[in-house]
Amino acid sequence: MNLRIIAIIFVFIFQIQKITSQSSIPHLKKVGDETQLIVDGNPFIVLGGELGNSTFTSVDYMEPHWETLKAMNLNTVLAPVYWELIEPQEGQYDFELLDKLIEETRRNDLKMIVLWFGSWKNSMSSHVPSWVKQNQEKYPRAKDERGVSQEILTPFSKENLNADLNAFRALIQHIKEIDKGHQTVIMVQPENEIGMLPSARDYHPLATKHFKEEVPEELINYLIEHKENLVPEFLKVWKENGFRTTGNWEEIFGAGYATDEIFMAWYFSKYAEAITKAGKEIYPLPMFVNAALIRPGKIPGEYPSAGPLPHLMDIWKAGAPSIDMFSPDFYTPDFEYWNDLYVRQNNPLFVPEHRFDNTVGAKALFAIGHYEAIGFSPFGIESNVNMELANAYRLIEQLHPIIVDNFGQNKIDGVLLEKDKILSTVVLGDYEFSFKNSYTLGWEAGATDEVWDSGGAIIIQTDTNEFFVAGSGIVVTFKNWKQRDKIVGILKNEEGKFKDGKWEVIRHLNGDQTHQGRHIRISHGDYSIQRIQLYEYE
Ligand code: DGJ
Repeated sequence: MNLRIIAIIFVFIFQIQKITSQSSIPHLKKVGDETQLIVDGNPFIVLGGELGNSTFTSVDYMEPHWETLKAMNLNTVLAPVYWELIEPQEGQYDFELLDKLIEETRRNDLKMIVLWFGSWKNSMSSHVPSWVKQNQEKYPRAKDERGVSQEILTPFSKENLNADLNAFRALIQHIKEIDKGHQTVIMVQPENEIGMLPSARDYHPLATKHFKEEVPEELINYLIEHKENLVPEFLKVWKENGFRTTGNWEEIFGAGYATDEIFMAWYFSKYAEAITKAGKEIYPLPMFVNAALIRPGKIPGEYPSAGPLPHLMDIWKAGAPSIDMFSPDFYTPDFEYWNDLYVRQNNPLFVPEHRFDNTVGAKALFAIGHYEAIGFSPFGIESNVNMELANAYRLIEQLHPIIVDNFGQNKIDGVLLEKDKILSTVVLGDYEFSFKNSYTLGWEAGATDEVWDSGGAIIIQTDTNEFFVAGSGIVVTFKNWKQRDKIVGILKNEEGKFKDGKWEVIRHLNGDQTHQGRHIRISHGDYSIQRIQLYEYE
């Protein structure tokens, strides 16, 4: 063999190895119109929980909490890594704590999502190392409208970005070295709830200089190219100013807080892009950014502005193409409303934070069923064992094989039923299902309470007339929308469980349990799986 052929063989083997190793690390995969997370080569649904901010900073402090996480059937813990702890002195990294915690995560048979508390955490820069905090000259701060410095690194400083980049690169390099063979770390969230406060834009001189400049061509070209498909809230702002394509920020979008926010969103997204891209060049794990949602009635500057919020999705998409997902954090109601906004522009839904209340079980089922979400994760997960969540996660875990088989094919849906939304209609195949909160029957204790428990369910079609329904607090009736002259009856209704992917019947449901064949029902707190087969009669 001559040298040329040997060289070609080597290059070929190297390429194959590269492709194999890259495809075997956690990654996202498009299935139909939906997106699936692949871990260890298999589809993975994140049944997660996020730790309180300071819990994962000591092995001993964390020790008693592992049991709590296991008791709720979690498969993934979302945990912060503080910049100040991994780089206490500039350029000197300390990963001892992180290594121990990753080992503990593995020992507890969990996966981990790393939250990078870098330049920003809930708008602020509280987690930057002291050598950054104390050198404001080199690492400048954002200023509010009155010119007062905030404890927020300005995104307009190259020094700020470079310092964060160095640390993030070191972190990802380290994770790659210690974890590539294990895949304990499955995703990364660069930064946390980026947002400008207490004014809509940064008034640091570096920011003001950029504000007066022409809007970058990169953004304008994106807007022109995607004009037909921009989110309506954003399109409106641009349209009201005559769809201008040249000029500075105020000339193109008009003067006002909305423009201040758009301007900041562009520069925040560029900063987050640089971080994400650099991390992925080392170890391309899926990476997402999260957003604090807007409280009712607040205007830019009154809420953490310019983060990856729904009305700014296009700006973020244009500025940060390396980011895989924009994710909502829920501490306000209107779960469905916000999620509907987040699944636009092909954005896969992942809910990294939800207030740890009693609605989380129903919402986990709804998110995984209705949005075929990547995962769900209440915040402050170590604080107590919440049985609603434990039960919902147990059901999803059992359903996993049939969710995977039917994923992305319009065969899966989910419902969330609250007192102000008692009915939800689902269409799968030929059938239309009316789901109601089971309190509407008036039979269950709790039906007369002022605040209702949430009902939630996943429904999966496994054959023309066969469906699995899993959840709690629901009552379901059926119609065949193709044969409206016929009545739909229950051919068979079983309660059961999936063991190693196989359906095992626990009991045959009929009589009072189906209201003598009129409906199927799972009472509040019951959290079970039912198989139903339907038929038509005249
Ligand atoms: C949202 C943040 O992302 C979390 O880190 C935490 O601060 C929660 N808010 C609420 O405490």
